[in-house]
Amino acid sequence: MCGIVGYAGNKNVESVLLVGLICLEYRGYDSAGIAVFDKGDIEIRKEKGKIKALENLLKEKPVDGHIGIGHTRWATHGEPSQINAHPHTDSKTSIAVVHNGIIENYQKLKFQLQSKGHVFHSSTDTEVIPHLLAEELKAGKSIKDAFLNIFSKIEGKWAISVLFEREPDRVYFAQDGAPLLIGKGKNEYYLSSAIEALIRNSAEVCYTKNKEWGYFTKNELAIFDFQGNPIVPEFKKQELKWTEIDKTGYPHYMIKEIFEQPSIFRKIIEKRMNGGYELNFPEFTLPKEILSRVTRLIIQAAGTSLHAGMIGKHYLEQFPKIQTDSEMSSEFVYRNPVVEGDTMIIAISQSGETADTLAGIYEAKAKFLKVISLVNNVNSTIARESDAFIDMLAGPEIGVASTKAFTAQLMHLFLFSLYVASLKWMIPEEELKALLDEVKLLPSKMDAILNKASIIEKWSKDFVDTKDFVFLGRTYNHPVALEGALKLKEISYIHASGYAGGELKHGPIALITSEVPVVCIAIDSEIYPKMVSNIEEIKARHGKIISIVNEGDEQVKALSDYCFEIPKCSEVLSPLLTVIPLQLLSYYVAVARDYDPDKPRNLAKSVTVE
Ligand code: M6R
Repeated sequence: MCGIVGYAGNKNVESVLLVGLICLEYRGYDSAGIAVFDKGDIEIRKEKGKIKALENLLKEKPVDGHIGIGHTRWATHGEPSQINAHPHTDSKTSIAVVHNGIIENYQKLKFQLQSKGHVFHSSTDTEVIPHLLAEELKAGKSIKDAFLNIFSKIEGKWAISVLFEREPDRVYFAQDGAPLLIGKGKNEYYLSSAIEALIRNSAEVCYTKNKEWGYFTKNELAIFDFQGNPIVPEFKKQELKWTEIDKTGYPHYMIKEIFEQPSIFRKIIEKRMNGGYELNFPEFTLPKEILSRVTRLIIQAAGTSLHAGMIGKHYLEQFPKIQTDSEMSSEFVYRNPVVEGDTMIIAISQSGETADTLAGIYEAKAKFLKVISLVNNVNSTIARESDAFIDMLAGPEIGVASTKAFTAQLMHLFLFSLYVASLKWMIPEEELKALLDEVKLLPSKMDAILNKASIIEKWSKDFVDTKDFVFLGRTYNHPVALEGALKLKEISYIHASGYAGGELKHGPIALITSEVPVVCIAIDSEIYPKMVSNIEEIKARHGKIISIVNEGDEQVKALSDYCFEIPKCSEVLSPLLTVIPLQLLSYYVAVARDYDPDKPRNLAKSVTVE
């Protein structure tokens, strides 16, 4: 949520910042802006809308310099507008600030500053920062002391970057709870909220930690803690390849990421199963004795990751037989759950930066519970704050609508459940082998589904004007129904709800008319006959049936208006396949309605505010 970039070096800063912002645009696209030292003065350019709008403004009013900061915004305080766009400044434009996160006590600080004569122009929380710094400098403090003083005044989770007119050779930065990375090039340093903006230019990166701040010039980097003590920067080799974050010929990241799923699964199988049946998670450092002692698990996550967690609950109860709950992080944090000593928390997060999930981790730690996490970014705050983490190995996910991360999360939850079950001697070797043999077939089954994507693309044209969708699934596929509905809502803006099939008659059936398509996941399982009854009930009310069935199913096919067949597989693994046609449906409907699926309105990829 919001992306920050910064640069000091010999290159043209305007283009460096623009390229960086384009890489971070998935974090927010309400407005964008830059601040640059141009002949010693701070020059600001900012515009409402996507980075393209800023780019056009810069064509009309270019800036010239080698040092600067930039921002792409996801609005929290104040509507998306030019005035609310970052950077924000003090009244003399001698300090420029870009900010990610929330300053929770900004109203109080704003009143205090206003009573001292400071005039504010925007409705943002950010604007208090340059004014607070200006107030400190006016009182004769050094920049260092000004920073140290304001850190104790501002509350919330945030990251900032700052230019001071009096030091035109450097970029300042600070963070407390929001990510900031520094990239090192040759005679240049870069700053970014996420790795994507550093891949092309930085051979090494340093992930700053909470409560760290500092500055860089083109040749020097200094980092301090919030007491002012120096910190030795730890740089790591930057190993991501540019192709991993490129669309590689696809029109959108979302469809690229949907089609990547089979190859990700081949990688997961190779890494986790070593070509055989021995499960391994080398990065997972929690001692086996602790894991095998756990008697209760609480999975906490948000959005798509929560849906994966809901299926994970089934896996953890079925295989290692551990009582497991799955909860929305945002509710878990505030409901003071009853926990016993051997309860462990599993946090699931693609980005590893979701504020709600992170808050859940802090809450768990306050209760002295062990926390393990499943993340797609091993350098993320959630990975760092957990006692141990598992890398879901999906590669960078840029599309705001999560797709490949969901299946990679599910796969890891499944394999992890089997791993814990074998640690606890709860699964016979033959059963384990049979399940893992089936896992090995998943990539080619996914390929088979994706080879038929054009069927769904064709259907999508029929739903361009549809107002409501319903999604139904049962047991393992109930969360898939929720996920299908979430996907459709977020990128095509069609209202959609997911339900467990059995709940239909308890209320949602009132929604069914001939105008409402109902997506029914009806794969082979014990509960199949019940799902067939649900479909009959919908049919009787003239609802349009879109069914997802196993190959060869004639019964549901005969009842359906649209029927998509997926390869046969056991019910327990079926969500890994049933979700793919739903991902395709939401993508193609959004495209047919002429929306950009990678930049859905009001959303951002990494939700770093509570
Ligand atoms: O990065 P996380 O997995 O923690 O993100 C959680 C949700 O914000 C995320 O899944 C969101 O719901 C997606 N936009 C869904 O497509």
